[in-house]
Amino acid sequence: MPNAQQKKRFTITSALPYANGPLHIGHLAGAYIPADIFARFQRLKNHDVLHVCGSDEHGAAITIKAKKEGKEPQEIVDQYHSQIMESFQKFGIGFDIYHRTSAQIHHELSQEFFLTLYNKGEFIEKESEQFYDEKYKQFLADRYIVGTCPNCHHDGAYGDQCEKCGTSLNPTDLINPTSTLSGEKPVLKITKHWYLPLDKYQTFLEEWLLKGKKDILKSNVYGQCNSWLNSGLQARSMTRDLDWGVDVPLKEAKGKKLYVWLDAPIGYISASKQWALDNNKDWEKYWKIQNDPKNNAHLIHFIGKDNIVFHCIIFPAILKAHGDYILPENIPANEFLNLEGDKLSTSRNHAVWLHEYLEEFPGKEDELRYVLTSILPETSDSEFTWKDFQARVNNELVAIFGNFINRVMVLSHKYFDGVVCKGSALTDSDKQVLNELASYPSKIEKAINSYRFREALSYFMQAARLGNKYLADEEPWKLIKTDEERVKTVLNISLQIASNLAIFARPFLPFTAKKLFEMLNQAAKGWDQGGRGDLLPVGHQLGETQLLFEKITDEEVEFQLKKLAQAAASNQQANSEALAGKPAVTFDTFSAMDIRSGEIVAAEKVAKTKKLLRLTVDTGLDRRTIVSGIAEHFKAEDLIGQQVSVLLNLEPRNIKGVESQGMILMAEDSQGKLFFVAPSEKVLPGSIIR
Ligand code: MF3
Ligand code: ZN
Repeated sequence: MPNAQQKKRFTITSALPYANGPLHIGHLAGAYIPADIFARFQRLKNHDVLHVCGSDEHGAAITIKAKKEGKEPQEIVDQYHSQIMESFQKFGIGFDIYHRTSAQIHHELSQEFFLTLYNKGEFIEKESEQFYDEKYKQFLADRYIVGTCPNCHHDGAYGDQCEKCGTSLNPTDLINPTSTLSGEKPVLKITKHWYLPLDKYQTFLEEWLLKGKKDILKSNVYGQCNSWLNSGLQARSMTRDLDWGVDVPLKEAKGKKLYVWLDAPIGYISASKQWALDNNKDWEKYWKIQNDPKNNAHLIHFIGKDNIVFHCIIFPAILKAHGDYILPENIPANEFLNLEGDKLSTSRNHAVWLHEYLEEFPGKEDELRYVLTSILPETSDSEFTWKDFQARVNNELVAIFGNFINRVMVLSHKYFDGVVCKGSALTDSDKQVLNELASYPSKIEKAINSYRFREALSYFMQAARLGNKYLADEEPWKLIKTDEERVKTVLNISLQIASNLAIFARPFLPFTAKKLFEMLNQAAKGWDQGGRGDLLPVGHQLGETQLLFEKITDEEVEFQLKKLAQAAASNQQANSEALAGKPAVTFDTFSAMDIRSGEIVAAEKVAKTKKLLRLTVDTGLDRRTIVSGIAEHFKAEDLIGQQVSVLLNLEPRNIKGVESQGMILMAEDSQGKLFFVAPSEKVLPGSIIR
């Protein structure tokens, strides 16, 4: 057979993270590590691979964060886009492009998509009543409405979901709905939107997605899709009344934006377009149906489980409605990763943030990749603990893989000046070892192609264990005294194993693989070289020995656990204060406080801090300096003239080198948003508050 291996074209997408916060280990374990392993592997197989990702910069996730921090949405997405991109790059997540949905080319393509569907008559136009905030003069996204849950009577349910009992809701289901913008009761107002009738695609989706796919889709994915389709699909609005997002390209839709779950997945395509422009490639080969369907790309979406319905049902229906596009071949969604017995949570700061890990464990990116790959939540939720992290690094990477490589290198340099020696006749155990070695490439390949990355990684470690055991059994450090010829053979075989391990490591541990090839003084080899016993020719000069891994110390583990405990404690304190209130104080204690109205007359950032503003306040008695931790919520220049309440007789404190003479009183809502506490009308500075 000529060329048994056909070159395939893969379009690999990783869910576009919202640019509203930094990444944590849950992101890596959900989509990005599996996607990166898969993409790296297909490249090693010499397939044609395009792996795209980018920031999801629209939707309520962004505007809510912006409101909370008192910033413009653009500022928020600029900040987090760069931070996220940097984390990916440092962890070696090797996208061909990391793009963003605020880019012009993305807005254009999303509008083109919408218009194509519109012109084909795919949308249903419908008027309906939706909540509107009269004070803010805007319609309210589901997340901007809170109220009492009709199901469990929890008071803080959102317009789309009650997080207490999990019920999915419509805003109009809420008892006593309130706008989170104005705090007032929103009114119902008629608005027009464009709906994609998903029910029209029900039969198509059942056929395409489920029929005969039980063994192809992951069971968690199949199960979720099956239950969605069983409960029947409904039309979903593809437009929204928002002021942040992609404009709906219709005259009669002025001020409306595309639904974020319409524009975001199109981000995969616009990213590919930008990549093609930058690299002089043809993006259509990766996305469009080809004349000969044999030439269609294999489209694979890597996502977390909360994205399943969008990638399995809504986006495929959109692609199908458009007509020119291929549909995904698989959607290998992962479940969730937990941390130390609890859900990862951004708001409670219960997380391992990637930018912090990178600072605290510099050069140990592969260690985290390794541990996360070992515990990927592939079939059910899984758990990261720092003790387990330490154990896997120390007992596997250091004690098995690292130890083996170190011994082979050191012994080869010590006995033979780092030159690969010719072996003599092979013993049975040599042959057995070489046979076993030869079995790993196909085992790893099969597991990766079935999206079983934990299993694939375990074969890699088994191969390392094979080498380590071989050395321990043969004991070349003893043999050298009696049988130098035999040592030559043992080290030759061990070095061949080492070179194979460098290949096997490439999809999982890219930095380590590179280092190992350097140590072996060898150009990096592709997958199909793997399994061979002659990767390093006789006479080859090895490079210098470097240390691959170091142990994680108990102190490092304790430090991380302490950090998590501190985050939990500060949450608990905030919670118990909010819920239970503080113990009673005497009237005298209260009246000992000198609180007066004041006016901010100057404000500037305190140098080298994120949160601090240095305020000059007219207190009626004097003008004094007060340092306040509100810089993330307010711009200095907006504060001039702001009426405030000041606690004047708080003991002066030195804060970052500035003496602060008092405190500004602020109110904080449950979202962490800050408000000034001040007299309801303008009063003279110095007016007493009691
Ligand atoms: N931003 C979404 C999330 O974090 C994922 C978007 S994936 C895409 O859940 F397909 F829409 F791009
Ligand atoms: Zn509820």
